[in-house]
Amino acid sequence: MSTGRESPEVLIAPPGPKSRAITARIAAVESPAFEARRDSRQEVSHAEQSPIVYERGLGSNVWDADGNRYVDLIAGFGALPVGHEHPAIKAAAHAQGLRMSLALGDVYSTEVKAELCERLVAMFPEPGARVMLGLSGADAITAALKTAMLATGRAGLLAFRGGYHGLSYAPLAACGLNESFRAPFRAQLGDHVTFAHYPTDAASLEDTMTHAETTLASGEIGAVLVEPILGRGGCIAPPADFLPSLRALCDRAGALLIVDEIWTGLGRSGAMLASSSIVPDVICLGKALGGGLPISACLVRANVMRAWAKHGGSTIHTATHFGWPLACATAKECLNLLEREQLAARAAVVGGRWIERLRAEGLDARGRGLMIGIDLGDAARALLISRALLALGWLVLTGGLRGEALTLTPALDIDESLLQDFSITLGALARSK
Ligand SMILES: Cc1ncc(COP(=O)(O)O)c(C=O)c1O
Repeated sequence: MSTGRESPEVLIAPPGPKSRAITARIAAVESPAFEARRDSRQEVSHAEQSPIVYERGLGSNVWDADGNRYVDLIAGFGALPVGHEHPAIKAAAHAQGLRMSLALGDVYSTEVKAELCERLVAMFPEPGARVMLGLSGADAITAALKTAMLATGRAGLLAFRGGYHGLSYAPLAACGLNESFRAPFRAQLGDHVTFAHYPTDAASLEDTMTHAETTLASGEIGAVLVEPILGRGGCIAPPADFLPSLRALCDRAGALLIVDEIWTGLGRSGAMLASSSIVPDVICLGKALGGGLPISACLVRANVMRAWAKHGGSTIHTATHFGWPLACATAKECLNLLEREQLAARAAVVGGRWIERLRAEGLDARGRGLMIGIDLGDAARALLISRALLALGWLVLTGGLRGEALTLTPALDIDESLLQDFSITLGALARSK
């Protein structure tokens, strides 16, 4: 009987024949961009980059189409806080599915949406907040940026190099991670975004705040959009003064402070919100919220949110599946589990011990809670080592500003002994490659 807490078991060198055959079928019909990315990664790393194909998951384990068992240190890009196929999440989806899977968005809603929205606004650090639901993180960021436009009348945005907020047009314009994501579409992105350096220490914080101050002095900036810890940028935590300094600056300049907690939020960083040192104007949540189903939320301070009502009933932000009852039900259950099992506090403790363990192996580990980045020097080495890990049954992603890091976001309830074993395996690999 599987427990979802087992060590890797690799029976056939991955990717095995079944994974290869399914990958070939997918490559024949989906966007060629993904195969092109694999080819380019292969060229950079001189290591094969053909993917495995997932077949099933349980807890922190994933099985591929060839029957290999892996330990999942990615957990759906951080969107599986209680792992794969958690029985309580499955039961919530099943029970809601028996009643109604799809209602009528913002026209005719369901009680489960009311319950979820009440839970979400209660998480905002000030009473009276309102919420707009979406499906993806990019939806929540889009809602936040529209809110800033309505509330301030200013189109300008200050964002950060290394930041990532999704790839649909509004968040793409603010993407500071990889210029190649933006470059081909620049003509359709506008020129309203200014990028500042994301600070990593006291000296760079001073430079960043000077730049931000000058930019906001133009009077054209309606909002500052920031991740409390860079996620895709490599799990980089800024100095503690960063968010309070931005808060004070936004207050002086009359701009909104939008905090993108899509990666950090809901326990990942070791707290329910990584931005708890301040009261932001807008908090965006996503990823973990649905416990595996797509749902996101844009939480907005009461006085700011009034801007939406000023537009005579014609200015709304909605979509066919917003408020999807199935995801509202799993999100509600996911919040229950996070609370009941104290998973944010667990992430802080377990993540703290894990970083120490990784450092003891001589690895350059950084991050907070269970979002940990390991700097391996360059993209070629990070890709090479991530493939070596795959061959041993460990699922990891590469990330960072130059693709130089492994980014690790396991389920928040992962067994600590798996993290110990991983640290030893990675330490040995890093010493040999
Ligand atoms: C911080 C952050 N914001 C926004 C997004 C976009 O979320 P989605 O991919 O669900 O659109 C991501 C995705 O990785 C993210 O890490």
